Amino acid sequence: MMSYLADPNGYFGEFGGAFVPEILHRCVEELQHTYLNVLQSKNFRDEYTQLLRDYVGRPSPLYLARRLSARYGCRIYLKREDLNHTGAHKINNAIGQVLLAQRMGKRRIIAETGAGQHGVATATVCALMGMECVVYMGKTDVERQHANVEKMKMLGARVVSVTSGNMTLKDATNEAIRDWCCHPSDTYYIIGSTVGPHPYPDMVARLQSVISEEIRKQLKEQEGRDCPDYLIACVGGGSNAAGTIYHYVDDPRVKIVLAEAGGKGVESGKTAATMALGRTGIIHGARTYVIQNEDGQIVEPYSISAGLDYPGIGPMHANLARQKRAQILAVNDDEALRAAYELTRLEGIIPALESAHALGALPKLHFQPNDVVVLTVSGRGDKDMDTYLAAPYQAS
Ligand SMILES: Cc1ncc(COP(=O)(O)O)c(C=O)c1O
Repeated sequence: MMSYLADPNGYFGEFGGAFVPEILHRCVEELQHTYLNVLQSKNFRDEYTQLLRDYVGRPSPLYLARRLSARYGCRIYLKREDLNHTGAHKINNAIGQVLLAQRMGKRRIIAETGAGQHGVATATVCALMGMECVVYMGKTDVERQHANVEKMKMLGARVVSVTSGNMTLKDATNEAIRDWCCHPSDTYYIIGSTVGPHPYPDMVARLQSVISEEIRKQLKEQEGRDCPDYLIACVGGGSNAAGTIYHYVDDPRVKIVLAEAGGKGVESGKTAATMALGRTGIIHGARTYVIQNEDGQIVEPYSISAGLDYPGIGPMHANLARQKRAQILAVNDDEALRAAYELTRLEGIIPALESAHALGALPKLHFQPNDVVVLTVSGRGDKDMDTYLAAPYQAS
């Protein structure tokens, strides 16, 4: 049977691989040869599992949202990654990669960040481990996610504000790769999503797969069955979605719905809906869908949500879209804002703007009363309060 997980060369169907500048070949090869041995070693597993439990607070709850369920006529469970230490799923990956960096003898950590959640998670783990940390962040995002910038600074990280392009996640990633090229021997680059050259997409998916591992156990306890009818997650680069679907992706009983950022509308020219609009290209070291013009130039993306404002997509998700294994929905800014207010008023949970896109998929789907739906709330909304308060409350 065909699998939707990575093959040994880091390909998901025709997507993936490692397309990196000459200077990084050795680093990337070293990582390719090391990551599986480390991730599967007892010593790593013990330390990682203990930190996830005692430091992050895992397992995160699987919460049956009764009022939201009543609204959509099915049984909706929320996977509460927003309750993790630092407020999002990103810390699952940051801890794993810092432990790997330590085992590879690297002392200096760099990262890119969009919404700032990956930056905060990385700065947090670097504080915990006493490691140097530099975070690249587009200037637009420094402004719209300033609470996270202050946290990174307090944690001792240096935040570099990037002023190229439209000053968002793509541009921050470019700068982080440039830094890595200048310091290939002592620096470890912690990528925050299932993007970048092999082995990153596979490695980040594995580190986030704790999410679906827990869903399986929790559903069994609460519903008496270990697989849902639907899994729903938002997709920026794809890491919370990859974690949510990892143990179900090859199970045809489970429908997968991925919500990408429609921005002001897929046809508006102001969008980050890569799976709707992208064509195959190479971005940040992987072959995947990229929003590009006829000359192959990347088109600047747009989304109200800094974490989804990216013109590429993880190769795993490009393949899921190409193979039609996942249903892809574009959720626009206004739909995400409405969904954020809806969750807040029905369940008393203020979601991150990114997670609000997953919630914005609910009205686009048609459920049966017995359907069991698991939707990942990838993060909490503290960082997005300015944006929420600037948008009027939209009752529905
Ligand atoms: C809370 C939250 N959810 C989702 C995302 C999107 O990233 P990914 O697709 O890798 O989960 C981000 C990225 O910053 C985020 O902060």
